[in-house]
Amino acid sequence: MCGIVGGVAERNISNILIEGLKRLEYRGYDSAGLALINQGQILRERRVGKVVNLEQAVLDAQLNGSLGIAHTRWATHGKPTENNAHPHISGNVAVVHNGIIENYQELKDQLETLGYIFTSQTDTEVVAHLVNDALKSTPSLLEAVRLVVPKLKGAYALGIIHTDHPDELITVREGSPLVIGVGIGENFISSDQLALLPITNRFIYLEEGDIARLTRTTIEVFVDGQLVERPITELDATVTNASKGRYKHYMLKEIYEQPEAIKQTISQALNGNALREDFLANANDQFKNIQQIQIIACGTSYHAGMIAKYWCEQLIDLPCQVEIASEFRYRSPVIVNQTLYLCISQSGETADTLAALRDIQKRAVSKHLDITTMAICNVATSSMVRETNYSLLTLAGPEIGVASTKAFTTQLAALMLLVLKIGTVKQTITAEQVSQLIADLWHIPKILLDTLQNNNEILALSELFVEKQHCLFLGRGTHFPIALEGALKLKEISYIHAEGYAAGELKHGPLALVDNEMPVVILAPKDDMLDKLKSNMEEVQARGGELFVFADENSGIKSKDRQHVVNVPTVHPTLAPIVYSIPIQLLSYHVAVLRGTDVDQPRNLAKSVTVE
Ligand code: G6P
Repeated sequence: MCGIVGGVAERNISNILIEGLKRLEYRGYDSAGLALINQGQILRERRVGKVVNLEQAVLDAQLNGSLGIAHTRWATHGKPTENNAHPHISGNVAVVHNGIIENYQELKDQLETLGYIFTSQTDTEVVAHLVNDALKSTPSLLEAVRLVVPKLKGAYALGIIHTDHPDELITVREGSPLVIGVGIGENFISSDQLALLPITNRFIYLEEGDIARLTRTTIEVFVDGQLVERPITELDATVTNASKGRYKHYMLKEIYEQPEAIKQTISQALNGNALREDFLANANDQFKNIQQIQIIACGTSYHAGMIAKYWCEQLIDLPCQVEIASEFRYRSPVIVNQTLYLCISQSGETADTLAALRDIQKRAVSKHLDITTMAICNVATSSMVRETNYSLLTLAGPEIGVASTKAFTTQLAALMLLVLKIGTVKQTITAEQVSQLIADLWHIPKILLDTLQNNNEILALSELFVEKQHCLFLGRGTHFPIALEGALKLKEISYIHAEGYAAGELKHGPLALVDNEMPVVILAPKDDMLDKLKSNMEEVQARGGELFVFADENSGIKSKDRQHVVNVPTVHPTLAPIVYSIPIQLLSYHVAVLRGTDVDQPRNLAKSVTVE
């Protein structure tokens, strides 16, 4: 999704803005631009494609200035062209924008009748013209922005500069993330703190509706024209470690970080083979009362939620529903008393999940319902964590690869902890079961390390996928969501069309696709469904399909003609989905590398989907 970086300093900040944009590349984008104020002029460069293209243009033009805004654009309104790239200029005003201005057409019509000429197809350009127009009635840039904001409908974060205000950067947060990086004698803004980490570890997280004015030495935040206090948060080093290290791609590094990330995530909640007394202790009363869980999430996080549904029902006898946030929010959901509404999100900023959460809260208030909201999230400072009653953090560290890996498996670990916690409070699980599962959970990091040893074997198999057009993933029970996740991973980074299916559904459609050109990936842990899965494998083989089986080392499934088996270490069947995530991640990764795609930033996709 679009990324904003801006700053006001004494030094030339063009390099800082470019470096910031590079650090936002992982979010996904298709063009980039930058504007600086220098001696009463706006200097602007915009380029289609990668930030390096913009960097070269800025170097060639020798642009410099101590006040500026920069942007990576992920096209929503208008194609990825230079004219549509931000910043957009009207008169002496330059604007960058994340999000969507929903009523832009109406505003554009009004502005055109006033004589404003549009040079792009974007929704953003209306903001530049509106601020320019508002400056006819006030000399204050801040005041002009305040006059414009009520006219804008939608979700947005803005960075605004003006040639007559060479020491002033105005920013607005309304529905799209924005942080202020607090420097010494200089201040910055960005849609993600990662962009500013080379400069500062001190951040102010703006709230929805905040308008801020930054100068080199001051930061003022306003709500409805009134000055408000916003605390400065200092981040520690673990949050800030986001380099690729010795790995070729962030995704591979993140796959290998999973044993440690899981260890970190479970350590916060466990004391030996028991849950810590203080783990989510402030939610005990709420957890005791809940009658069901409703999970809301998108993408990979949704798949984590699907697995949690099996766990809730099997382990603690608690009904659990899971729904994609973009569907949930638009179908007038009936909000039910004594329900735990659980948002799962790596970023904590996904527009649909956040909107669903806000809608749930609004409906619950209007009907005087007693509900509990909670987030499982990888970003402690995110909107979702701040806006829910309780949160449980996945301690995965920053995830940069668009294809989620360590965020997913740590979500599973966190969900298991939550299920054990709720079951304990509600007394629907025995202390023995809890301590057995925790003992098995402690073994997971080691089992993941052993599973990662299969890397070369999986690399060799991935060569057989390179020329394929389609692929099927099959699993049963908690490995049905893993099959969905495997298909998602493969399609998003290798661009091979892939489908995940519950193996029991094979005969109801996908079997028609199976021929000798169709690779079929099977997830075969040693659980109650193994024999049924073996029958499904026979059905595929009988139709000439080629099987790639990730199977428990004691499953009895062996390699043979057109059946390639990779052995996975034996694991407690309940926790197996955490382990079987590894081979599907490695398979997708290697296929994508062999096909030469942009593994960390696949085409058309974004890491943090902050618009719907
Ligand atoms: C995007 C990302 C996925 C992620 C999904 C949900 O599609 O590319 O990796 O699973 O958003 O994001 P969230 O931050 O809410 O987990």
